[in-house]
Amino acid sequence: MTRRVMIMIAVASLATACAMTTQGASPAPAKAGAGAAPVAASTKPAAAPSAATPVDYTKIKPLTLVNETPKGGLHNPYNDKQTAIVAQGKHNFQSYGCSGCHGGGGGGGMCPPLINGVWIYGGRDDTLFRLVTLGSIALQQHGYSREAIENVVAPMPPFGGIIKNADDLWKILTYVRSRYDGNAAYKYGNPPGQ
Ligand code: HEC
Repeated sequence: MTRRVMIMIAVASLATACAMTTQGASPAPAKAGAGAAPVAASTKPAAAPSAATPVDYTKIKPLTLVNETPKGGLHNPYNDKQTAIVAQGKHNFQSYGCSGCHGGGGGGGMCPPLINGVWIYGGRDDTLFRLVTLGSIALQQHGYSREAIENVVAPMPPFGGIIKNADDLWKILTYVRSRYDGNAAYKYGNPPGQ
């Protein structure tokens, strides 16, 4: 109950921020070139989940996973051809309130679209997982910087304390991937395959 109230407050207040900062027609995305500076190395490269010992994502909180995994080390265990996972991700996307800002299908509402090949901080699984967990302000404090501009510029709120476990978030991100309708080359960020 409390969680739902928190989500509703977050959606209401930040959706307003999105509406107020809409810049009208979307300019061509300013894609970072191949020479973009790499993100600074993590200061705490401890306890990386290794392939040898599969992580039970249902038992780990998103924030714990982010804090314990070196940058670049988060990989979605699912893919968007797994229709049952996509369906669960869709359910989570709605129940956690993502749809309130990004639209029911992730195509954008008052806040930016998630499915168009413009990746504000890059489109890797690792970056998206951290963005949703930490929010955009803390993400930048962790050394990530803006690579592209969407038609709306506002903060993405942190969901690390709201999403119950990392598995729920991986499923949400799988759903977002399944909705992708941009240039195939940019599905996972720019440059392709990053
Ligand atoms: C209160 C409104 C709001 C809610 C709720 C919200 N977001 Fe966001 N989201 C934003 C805003 C605003 C941005 C753009 C951040 C920026 O420009 O720094 C964003 C950015 C993103 C991005 C990056 C998009 C891109 O093009 O690079 C992803 C992915 C994302 N959100 C996923 C989610 C998910 C998943 C949820 C639910 C767990 C969620 N958001 C809930 C407002 C919201």
